[in-house]
Amino acid sequence: MGTTGTYQARQFDLSGLKGISDQTLEMHFKLYEGYVKETNNLTERINEFVKDGKVDQEELPAYSELTRRLGFEYNGMVLHEYYFDNLIKGGGTGDPDRTSQFVRAAEGSFGSYEIWKADFVGIGKMRGVGWAICYQNPANGRLSNHWITLHETGNVAGFMPILVMDVWEHAFLLDYKPAERPKYIEAFFSNIAWGELERRLKGQQPQIAQKSA
Ligand SMILES: [Fe+2]
Repeated sequence: MGTTGTYQARQFDLSGLKGISDQTLEMHFKLYEGYVKETNNLTERINEFVKDGKVDQEELPAYSELTRRLGFEYNGMVLHEYYFDNLIKGGGTGDPDRTSQFVRAAEGSFGSYEIWKADFVGIGKMRGVGWAICYQNPANGRLSNHWITLHETGNVAGFMPILVMDVWEHAFLLDYKPAERPKYIEAFFSNIAWGELERRLKGQQPQIAQKSA
């Protein structure tokens, strides 16, 4: 862990999304800020344990618990930043341009954009609390879609997030009933910032986990 500086909650200007209310966003930003705060808190407490250059036997239970929780909070912070960054203020245009790099990558990996989308949406509808994420393997450019339980179980090491969709109920419960997750997924698709996906495919990742000096 880096020991200097603290993570800073970023500000996102996303008002006027289609089918996802500003009220939902405001509540969601607050939850995200909680993950940033807790990541800082855990980092600081873990640093306390290791600053003398060792973890004593009697410190292990507490140290282990904090370290396990760090994976949850840290991924909670990072995934929300990817999520908010792949939405576009005022709403998007629905499906991407057929000539876009994203559509070409989906075709190369799944056969067609429609099959990629069926897989991504299918993952989003899975029961449970978590995320649907389309990753790119930087080694060969291939896309694959994954279910992430909570925030930390199922992320693929080294793969780059290209499209990140929060399917925790807090992402839509003010706008839809719990059983209406498919409507939320439809709304999510109408707000995707496809330009951001193009940048991610080119290796330009958003400003994730920013620290103060
Ligand atoms: Fe969330």
